[in-house]
Amino acid sequence: MIVCLCRAKNERDVLRAIEAGAETVSDLQECGIGTDCGGCHGMLRSMLAANRSASAAPFVPMPSAVSCAETVA
Ligand code: FES
Repeated sequence: MIVCLCRAKNERDVLRAIEAGAETVSDLQECGIGTDCGGCHGMLRSMLAANRSASAAPFVPMPSAVSCAETVA
């Protein structure tokens, strides 16, 4: 399913960026997702929140740099 129409990014692209450490919409934007009209930001926030609530692991701070080279291509 396409999540960000402007950047042609699908659900898998977003989840890959989240798995790489993205925690905010700004982090996702660094991966080239949601950088144009912003119409997808609500869905991106929902996906980020779902990922946080689904995580059974205790909070572990992520590295400051988001590694998203694969999602930028
Ligand atoms: S739909 Fe994602 S920035 Fe426009």
